Amino acid sequence: MKEFKVGVVGATGMVGQRFVTLLENHPWFHLTAVAASGRSAGKTYEEAVGSRWVMATPMPEAVKKMVVLDASHVEEMASQVDFIFCAVNMKKDEIRALEEAYAKAECPVVSNNSAHRGTRDVPMVIPEINAEHVEIIPAQRRRLGTKRGFIAVKPNCSLQTYVPALAPLKEEFGLKQILACTYQAISGAGKTFERWPEMVDNVIPYIGGEEEKSEQEPLKIWGHIEGGEIVPTDKPNITAQCLRVAVSDGHMAAVYASFDKKPTMEQMKEAWANFEGPAQKLKLPSAPEHFLHYFEEEDRPQPRLDRNLGNGMAVGIGRLRPDTQYDYKFVCLSHNTLRGAAGGAVLLAELLAVKGYLD
Ligand SMILES: NC(=O)c1ccc[n+]([C@@H]2O[C@H](COP(=O)([O-])OP(=O)(O)OC[C@H]3O[C@@H](n4cnc5c(N)ncnc54)[C@H](OP(=O)(O)O)[C@@H]3O)[C@@H](O)[C@H]2O)c1
Repeated sequence: MKEFKVGVVGATGMVGQRFVTLLENHPWFHLTAVAASGRSAGKTYEEAVGSRWVMATPMPEAVKKMVVLDASHVEEMASQVDFIFCAVNMKKDEIRALEEAYAKAECPVVSNNSAHRGTRDVPMVIPEINAEHVEIIPAQRRRLGTKRGFIAVKPNCSLQTYVPALAPLKEEFGLKQILACTYQAISGAGKTFERWPEMVDNVIPYIGGEEEKSEQEPLKIWGHIEGGEIVPTDKPNITAQCLRVAVSDGHMAAVYASFDKKPTMEQMKEAWANFEGPAQKLKLPSAPEHFLHYFEEEDRPQPRLDRNLGNGMAVGIGRLRPDTQYDYKFVCLSHNTLRGAAGGAVLLAELLAVKGYLD
């Protein structure tokens, strides 16, 4: 595989730090530039991040002395890299404009942000599930008037707990009704317990916009390409409640599901055990060998024990049992800043590289 020069926009933030960490030893992607707001621009990465470094591993030496660029100086950043990862905390319309500016500067954008998830010709991809959606990119390039530049996004972190578990079941048995209650870690808000002491010993029953994303984004992921856009599916019907809980990393979901053709529990476990997607078949460097892992122990999966399954890129499932209202219920777990954020975006970039979209 060819090697690529990569930039991270929003490099000083929680997800940005994950990108910096994941890119430290990446076989294809080499971090050559970092950018953030005007507050950080001109400082070394080490100075700009200061005490905000929250990764469990030390800051990589190679990035410490890199001078942070101003993310709004698009040409300067774009000229130094082959593509960027983007994870910024700004207003949605500002993010939309910033990402389009990079794409129009012929710099592909692989984004963590939600701003473009609803844009019909922007692929929103979990590489195990809907890798074929990257084929919308030529249509997006026609709209933007670009040769190389485009935007690709990964979905919201909350649904990456339960959509992976539902994907093989949808294929084999059809999904009718889904109810998902998520229990989301504080790193999903870019926070630690030190920076958000109100979360200690607490649950906050509101995460702005999260329930709408959890209900609607899966329908785009399961949609199809038609006439230069991705048309969302209208099934299954999904209802979600999303709660913030006192956990540092790892989102959980309690899932209730009814099917068109009700499977047995053995068939469901078999579908999970055998499921692999293009990420595994193409042997992408960040793909977990086994995407879905079913725990027979009745008190698993747990964030503290199981969030790093498959280097934080696999999804844990447990407690499958019949329900009194839906066909079945079960619980799921995924690492929100790895599979649900930076890791998912790196995996998507690997797919784009293999498919030639980053050339
Ligand atoms: N945390 C998660 O688990 C997670 C999961 C999925 C998606 N996301 C999404 O990823 C994005 C980043 O989240 P986060 O948790 O990493 O946030 P964060 O820790 O608050 O970091 C925000 C980053 O954005 C930069 N920034 C802020 N204002 C800017 C501006 N005007 N111009 C350029 N850069 C600016 C900050 O730079 P300075 O340091 O210079 O201020 C920082 O690098 C958000 O859109 C979030 O919704 C997060």
